[in-house]
Amino acid sequence: DLAYLNGKIMPIGKATVPIEDRGYQFGDGIYEFVASYAGRLFMLEEHLDRLERSMGELTFDAIAREDIKKAILELFEQSGYPRAGIYIQISRGVAPRNHAFSRGMSPQFVMTIRAVKELPKSLRENGARAITVKDLRWGRCDIKSVQLVPNCLAKQKALDAGCDDAIFVSDQNVVREGTSSNLFIVSDGRLITHPLTHNILPGITRLAILGICHSAGIEVQESFFGIEELYGADEVFLTGTITEVLPIVRIDDKPIGDAAVGPITRRLYALLREKAL
Ligand code: PDD
Repeated sequence: DLAYLNGKIMPIGKATVPIEDRGYQFGDGIYEFVASYAGRLFMLEEHLDRLERSMGELTFDAIAREDIKKAILELFEQSGYPRAGIYIQISRGVAPRNHAFSRGMSPQFVMTIRAVKELPKSLRENGARAITVKDLRWGRCDIKSVQLVPNCLAKQKALDAGCDDAIFVSDQNVVREGTSSNLFIVSDGRLITHPLTHNILPGITRLAILGICHSAGIEVQESFFGIEELYGADEVFLTGTITEVLPIVRIDDKPIGDAAVGPITRRLYALLREKAL
């Protein structure tokens, strides 16, 4: 497994960052996670779009998109992994600890690459279980920042409860997304997912699914819905880079539909794999 550290590729264990990296001290960093299928990176340009947007929203001194892309491709090629997962992180830079930052810092650009660890087949075939949790995250979840403690706590709470993931629900009863995935429900043959606001991440897999539905003539509605609609849905699934399309068959110990993987979820998973491969 390899790491990339500001222009150099090395074994992961050899890559270290200075303790005054602002990503380390303040969570002042952004990230992406891209995967490849059969030697081809899936939707790389869309991931680069989001990366640039995240850096812009946090007013980082930019690294040229072409340089980022070149580095990703170089690491990918050197790894030789046909099915790779690449973690990309850029922090604002390194400076003596101070909440205020100066302009003209050099962003720290690091990556790791590993072979993708696929989700267990049984989880895909039988469906996952989820709990709902209060959304304690900040007001800019559209930025892919490395401040993920609420996500980590929610995910661990789900595992401790014998479930697979947690679903964030706002104080106003709006169902948002999973801890590292977007969420769709199927109701009366059409899909519903949270619209793109500051409260969810604009997922690349979500985008892929919207495109697939458009081509396949499956109706999708981007609108808000509450926990009753979640519990009452015919099907529920999560989308994400490693998650792909993952059926959820029980939420807060209530069955979704007949608690088995639904036909639309199954079809969308197949169509996503087809697009990626
Ligand atoms: N997570 N929502 C959140 C909060 C996420 O962290 C992610 C991705 C997604 C799905 O985005 P995409 O389809 O672009 O992967 C939605 C990545 C995979 C992670 O944290 O590792």
